[in-house]
Amino acid sequence: MAKKKLNVGLIGYGFMGRTHSNAYRKVGNFFDLDYEVVTKAVCARNEERLKSFADQWGYESTETDWRKLVERDDIDLIDIGSPNDTHQEIAIAAAEAGKMILCEKPLARTGEEAKPMVDAVEKAGVPNMVWYNYRRVPAVTLAKQLIDEGRLGKIFHYRSKFLQDWTISEDLPQGGEGLWRLDVNVAGSGVTGDLLAHNIDTAIWLNGSIDSVSALTETFIKERQHSLTGKVEKVGIDDACIFMAEFKNGSLGNFESTRYARGHKALYDFEINGEKASIAWDLHDMNRLAYFDHGDDSIVRGWRSIHVTDGDQPYMDKWWVPGLIIGYEHTFIHQVADFLEGVAKGEPASPTFKDALETQYICDAVLKSGKSRAWEKVQKV
Ligand SMILES: NC(=O)c1ccc[n+]([C@@H]2O[C@H](COP(=O)([O-])OP(=O)(O)OC[C@H]3O[C@@H](n4cnc5c(N)ncnc54)[C@H](O)[C@@H]3O)[C@@H](O)[C@H]2O)c1
Repeated sequence: MAKKKLNVGLIGYGFMGRTHSNAYRKVGNFFDLDYEVVTKAVCARNEERLKSFADQWGYESTETDWRKLVERDDIDLIDIGSPNDTHQEIAIAAAEAGKMILCEKPLARTGEEAKPMVDAVEKAGVPNMVWYNYRRVPAVTLAKQLIDEGRLGKIFHYRSKFLQDWTISEDLPQGGEGLWRLDVNVAGSGVTGDLLAHNIDTAIWLNGSIDSVSALTETFIKERQHSLTGKVEKVGIDDACIFMAEFKNGSLGNFESTRYARGHKALYDFEINGEKASIAWDLHDMNRLAYFDHGDDSIVRGWRSIHVTDGDQPYMDKWWVPGLIIGYEHTFIHQVADFLEGVAKGEPASPTFKDALETQYICDAVLKSGKSRAWEKVQKV
């Protein structure tokens, strides 16, 4: 049977523009879907670079104004891969135009900015999803399966960190291409919205809602030259953040993120301790899940390292043969596949905009607590 065509209009050809484009090109080769993704158009503001990106990734057409893209009748899905300050306006316009929407994380700069996005997609009734791609690492999906099966029993502890070291130099400017993450007006926040949002999304997926938080935030370098104005300006982002969390299920959370951990480029990890078992995962060794089962015979009991590459483990029947690994880019392919399966069945694929709003509210409470130095309640979605 001929597959239904689904025309994608991508906004932004940066880091995420490449991961998403790769996913659109590969997904139909590895997953048996009702839809065939067509890379119909890509949008960014620099026409020359845009054309070369379109040629390299097989986009049929280009637009330099996202509004034109959103208005086009031949586009079914708008994919927002541009910086955080652009998400709200584009998403609301796309929802009003009746497009399906995939939006990069964080959903917006704040919960207040994100809420109208949720309202807009719900009012329009359009399929929507946020690219919290780490849910689709097979080992992380397996962790979810083990928890849902009750193998950990009651969960006591959830600890997680995301460490980088790329902003240690005080000569690094803020703002503009490649450095918009340091400009609070564009990014909304620093490590909290950029990195901890991932830890939080995974945490609430695996361990449920967070009720309240207590945070310590720091901006180590207070002023930086702005790439666009040339002036030395105050730095408004959090360079580092440590927070404690009270989960609704009674477990204690402990989170840390910084861009000042010399030697770490992207160390994202988590460990969960339950009554019956513990699990741990680390992005540097992403195909493995560490698992300790207290129910094992005591003389062989210990942490095992599960190589999540077998056909009966999440997503792996779609790839090579047992024992062969996959990588970072596959998480985006899995996410597109799940989204399209959801569209075919008329079911949402997680995390939806509404799911991502919960993460946004937790980030807000963390940043608020960083200022107040008091415990802060998380706003309910
Ligand atoms: N899921 C993840 O793990 C992950 C990883 C990195 C970034 N992100 C998110 O993806 C988004 C983009 O980040 P990135 O690292 O790809 O950034 P980037 O700087 O590499 O690329 C941003 C792109 O957006 C384009 N752009 C900016 N303003 C635009 C506008 N008004 N109209 C059209 N295009 C515009 C730029 O030209 C560029 O192509 C951010 O929201 C970021 O938080 C998510």
